[in-house]
Amino acid sequence: MWEYTDKVRELFLHPKNIGEIKDADAIGEVGSIICGDALKLFLKIDKETGRITDAKFQTFGCASAIASSTALTELIKGKTVDEALKVTNQDIAAYLGGLPREKMHCSVMGREALEAAAADYKGEKLPKAEEGELVCECFGVTDEKIRRAIIENNLKTAEDVTNFTKAGGGCGKCVPKIEEILRQVLTGKNAEKIIPAKAKLTNIRKIAMIQDVIEKEIRPLLQTHGGDVELIDVEGNKVTVSLRAMCTECLMADVTVKDIEIKLRELVSGELTVEAG
Ligand code: FES
Repeated sequence: MWEYTDKVRELFLHPKNIGEIKDADAIGEVGSIICGDALKLFLKIDKETGRITDAKFQTFGCASAIASSTALTELIKGKTVDEALKVTNQDIAAYLGGLPREKMHCSVMGREALEAAAADYKGEKLPKAEEGELVCECFGVTDEKIRRAIIENNLKTAEDVTNFTKAGGGCGKCVPKIEEILRQVLTGKNAEKIIPAKAKLTNIRKIAMIQDVIEKEIRPLLQTHGGDVELIDVEGNKVTVSLRAMCTECLMADVTVKDIEIKLRELVSGELTVEAG
C-alpha cells in the first residue's frame, strides 16, 4: 500500500470543490478513463478582474488523484489565469505534504488540466504536452510530455518517468524509447547517470542470473585458490550453495559465503541471502 500523508487522507475522505460548474468560463480535460485516470476542471472567471472565482473538478482516479485535484482547485482560486499557471505539479504535491513517488503523475495530471483550461479560456490550442509523437500507447503519452516531465522534475530514470507520467507502466514496450528520450535530454551533462528501468525479476530469470554470476564471476575466482562452489538451491531470495575442493577445509569459509552473497546482491538482487548447505 502507498504511504499517504494525513493531508492526502483528509482530502480524499473530505474532498473540496467536487462537481461541475454549469456556466464555466473554461474547461480543461485530461487523461482518459480507459487509461485509468481522468480529470475535468471547471473554472469560473471574473470578467472584470480576470480572477478565478470558482474552481471545481470531476475525476476518475485514486485517492491521490482526488486529493491532488482538491489541492489544485484550492491553490488557484482567487488568482488570475496567468498567476494560476505558475502553479506547478510540485506545488500541488507540496500542498499535500508530499505524494508517494509512484503517485506523482496525479499532480502532473492536475497541472495539465489547469493548462488545458487556461488554453480553453484564452482560445488557444492545446498545451504542448499533448502534442508530439506518441511514445506510450498504453497511456497515450507523447515524447513532449515525457521531455517536459524529465526537465521540470529533474528525472533520471525510466522508472521515475513512469511515476510522473505513467508512460512505461503497462506492457513496457515503450521503455527503450523512454530511455532514449532520457538520454537525449540529459546528454552531455548527466547521461551517465541514467539508470535503466529494472526488468521484472521472475524466478526463472533470477535463478538463471544467479547461475551465470556463480559460473562467470565467483567460481573462476575461487578456483584460482584451489577452491570451488556449486549452486544447490534457490528458494525465494534464499540461495544455498555448497563450497567444494579447498574451500571445504578453509577456516574462512564463512567469509567466502558472505563474499558470494555480496557479489550476488550486487549483480542480481539486493534481497538475496546466501547460506552454505
Ligand atoms: S506502450 Fe508504454 S507501457 Fe505499453
